[in-house]
Amino acid sequence: MARRTHECVHEAENAQLHYAPAHFYETQPGKGYIDDVDQYSQMYRESIDNPELFFDKMAKEFLHWDTPYKAVKSGSLADGDVAWFLNGELNASYNCVDRHAFANSNKPAIIYEADDEVENRIITFGQLLRKVSKVASLLKSWGVKKGDVVTIYLPMIPEVIITMLAVVRIGAIHSVIFSGFSASSLRERIIDSKSKVIITCDEAKRGGKTIHTKDIVNESLQGINSVTYVLVYERTHNKTIAMSPTRDYWWTEEVNKQPNYCPPVPCNAEDPLFLLYTSGSTGSPKGIVHTTAGYLLGAAITTRYVFDIHPDDILFTAGDVGWITGHTYALYGPLSLGTATIIFESTPAYPDYGRYWRIIERYKATHFYVAPTALRLIKKIGEAEISKYDISSLRVLGSVGEPISPELWKWYHEKIGNKNCVVCDTMWQTESGSHLLAPLSGVTPTKPGSATVPFFGIDACLIDPVSGHILEGNDVVGVLAVKCSWPSMARSVWNNHDRYIETYLKPYPGYYFTGDAAGRDHDGYYWIRGRVDDVVNVSGHRLSTTEIETCLVNDKYVSAAAVVGIPDDLTGQSVVAFVSLQNDNEIDGPVSFHRELILQVRKEIGPFAAPKAVIIINDLPKTRSGKIMRRVLRKIASNEAEQLGDLSTLANPEIVSEIMEAVKTQF
Ligand code: WT7
Repeated sequence: MARRTHECVHEAENAQLHYAPAHFYETQPGKGYIDDVDQYSQMYRESIDNPELFFDKMAKEFLHWDTPYKAVKSGSLADGDVAWFLNGELNASYNCVDRHAFANSNKPAIIYEADDEVENRIITFGQLLRKVSKVASLLKSWGVKKGDVVTIYLPMIPEVIITMLAVVRIGAIHSVIFSGFSASSLRERIIDSKSKVIITCDEAKRGGKTIHTKDIVNESLQGINSVTYVLVYERTHNKTIAMSPTRDYWWTEEVNKQPNYCPPVPCNAEDPLFLLYTSGSTGSPKGIVHTTAGYLLGAAITTRYVFDIHPDDILFTAGDVGWITGHTYALYGPLSLGTATIIFESTPAYPDYGRYWRIIERYKATHFYVAPTALRLIKKIGEAEISKYDISSLRVLGSVGEPISPELWKWYHEKIGNKNCVVCDTMWQTESGSHLLAPLSGVTPTKPGSATVPFFGIDACLIDPVSGHILEGNDVVGVLAVKCSWPSMARSVWNNHDRYIETYLKPYPGYYFTGDAAGRDHDGYYWIRGRVDDVVNVSGHRLSTTEIETCLVNDKYVSAAAVVGIPDDLTGQSVVAFVSLQNDNEIDGPVSFHRELILQVRKEIGPFAAPKAVIIINDLPKTRSGKIMRRVLRKIASNEAEQLGDLSTLANPEIVSEIMEAVKTQF
């Protein structure tokens, strides 16, 4: 596979290196943390060759410890028993709140940009300490103790951060469920985590619309008697919503009467900090387990070094805290460093497409972190709005969640950054806890479309999926894996450690498997090609779906492609390709076009890889973080549409029936 795919190498891989613009350094508040790329390389080498020494220094510099650890790391990927900072004790809430409140209590911690701008609020570190303490005291009085899971189902309001920090303050574990999830998804996750306490609100506001949050919670809890307390924050003060007299409590009545200080509980470094559910390819969501010290350290050091965060910077992470991006870069990263975080409740389109830029102008945000999906929307509709605002405070433009095309990268750099900012494409996952591949802003030269090079401690490698061997050297393509544990890697799947081992550690024994295909170019830069969870085996040939997709996307009419394997009597599996076309192009005729695409794959990869069918659809099914849900395509193409599995993370559910129709007419 390695050599063949190399022939399909995207021309962007020969891209020129981009250096940080002069403006970035001129506006940098103080000296950068790392002098130059040579220093990065030297530190990176040290982090790989001597992780004990490297992370010992980092853990002492970035975290406050109640009890020093006795050893930096133990365990192995082969055995799935990784642990960091053994026997050390600390509290994540103390690290994110108290120590900054003691140093500078009036410093802004949470900048809340409400759906309706008149409701905006700023919460200082001093205020945050009191608010977190009050909720923590209440939870304690309800019997919540170390190791219990508390489910949080709240929109992007300060209370989501306050409650997360309150839960971890008393050593409990939070499980935040994205507020866009349905009652049945919420229910499934409450049951799996065995939460006895749920924190929610009466109603949510988003884009001027009211969402009946508490009604969704009520529905999700029908017949579940194990939930003993529901705390309801009055977001809209709608007193008419249904409350159970024995189970549900109003925030203002319960929280306000609590004391202003609740001592943080020292936690073991390896105590779980939180669960975060992510969809697996089998359909049932996995509760990814992150632990206290390693996760917090990963969040802090990536925020500092990748984003070049300085104490008075203002970080605007536009993703929801219900996903890992929000956990790490709207909460734990910035707050552990004492940096203000913008919590945005609304959408980029409400009340108009100037919303993001107004926020950046209003608070003089220095860092903007967003998914390419959102950028594509703005590029399509709202570009004219940008010039109306002064967004010159920006220094770093982050991208996350899916590959950013070189074109979109350049647009981001020019239209949002005015060629004055660093564009920082960060590749990571729910399971990695913090950045795996990313440039260090102002230090690592970038290439449009590449997430560049591994972060400290990430011993990244590419593996040939057919032989299972490591691909040495540059100019190779394979699956992305990591050779050794790193502090913020997920330690388990909640109540299912076997599934953790099966999914991440078994596919390539001794390595952590990311599930992504990637190339490494002649400069050692990584180019992510997407998930390879659905490896296809046609006549004994193991094929990477992304390899075929890359071929299809090279066609000038194709805008996106997704390839799946379906059962085939003759060849074991056969390949079916779904493609969406560029908007403005007319194709000659569907039949010749299909043939042309199939020929292209035969030519570029080999006859065995040729799709059995090419199905043209308007859009591919995608998750909210921009990933193509190949499982949906595979099930429909395999005539198993009744077993589509968990569709709760699908951003465009309306596409499902269209795909079914398209498949019907094809077969
Ligand atoms: C998968 C993880 C990380 C937070 C949001 C998604 C893809 C993520 C990039 C990037 C190319 C990316 C990968 C990864 N991905 N960032 N910069 N370039 N692909 O978290 O839902 O756990 O998804 O998202 O395929 O494995 P997630």
